[in-house]
Amino acid sequence: MSDEEENKMIDIYVMGRRYKVPEGLTIMTALEYSGYKYVRGCGCRGGFCGACSTVYRKEGEYKLKMDLACQTAVEDGMFLVQLPFVPAMRKEFEIEKVDPKQNDNVLLEKYPEIARCVSCNTCTKACPQDIKVMDYVQASLRGDVDRAAKLSFDCIQCGLCSIRCPADIKHYHLAQLARRIKGRYVDPTSSELETLVQELKDGKYDEELDKLASMTKEELKKLYDEREFQEEG
Ligand code: SF4
Ligand code: SF4
Ligand code: FES
Repeated sequence: MSDEEENKMIDIYVMGRRYKVPEGLTIMTALEYSGYKYVRGCGCRGGFCGACSTVYRKEGEYKLKMDLACQTAVEDGMFLVQLPFVPAMRKEFEIEKVDPKQNDNVLLEKYPEIARCVSCNTCTKACPQDIKVMDYVQASLRGDVDRAAKLSFDCIQCGLCSIRCPADIKHYHLAQLARRIKGRYVDPTSSELETLVQELKDGKYDEELDKLASMTKEELKKLYDEREFQEEG
């Protein structure tokens, strides 16, 4: 195999400008290979933080696609645009005032636009996490906090579902509210967590926390690498 075949180069377009990059890179690394430096729009590099939303279209195809730059391989003829931020208003709420037993449907009250959902399923098709986004919007419309929270559990807040919704719904903010209500009012309280919070308040771990805070990055890394794992069961 020739060197050229081994390192096949492909063309990508970043904001309209063509670059030659090695095949097999992710969109994120291909952009860096092309000389771009991420200042925003990049976080975990592992598909968990939702910071690297990308919109692209492939040469000769009519379809606009969306994905995460850190999880998607570049393809020849990709026209790319990065979305470091999706402007979507998040409604303010006080957790003490959103008890579902005291409110008809707090999700609908805070996000009335969910009533405009036309069931086009565009949001579900856009989600890089394969979440049934339309289904959690419909569950929210019915006031089913538990289902909306469960369906959206893997949401990484990338915003890709919201950018093409014809009803301008802010899916991920809605879903976050559902999960917070579920955590506060629907799920049973964990006695272990309550004990731990009380112990923290009583200062039981102050000395240990001070010790951690005074350690260098290298010492912390060593401690983390050598930590003991809790047995499952
Ligand atoms: S994209 Fe918007 S209108 Fe379409 S199903 Fe999803 S929430 Fe409903
Ligand atoms: S539900 Fe929306 S914001 Fe959440 S991961 Fe899917 S596309 Fe991203
Ligand atoms: S950088 Fe975090 S999901 Fe891509």
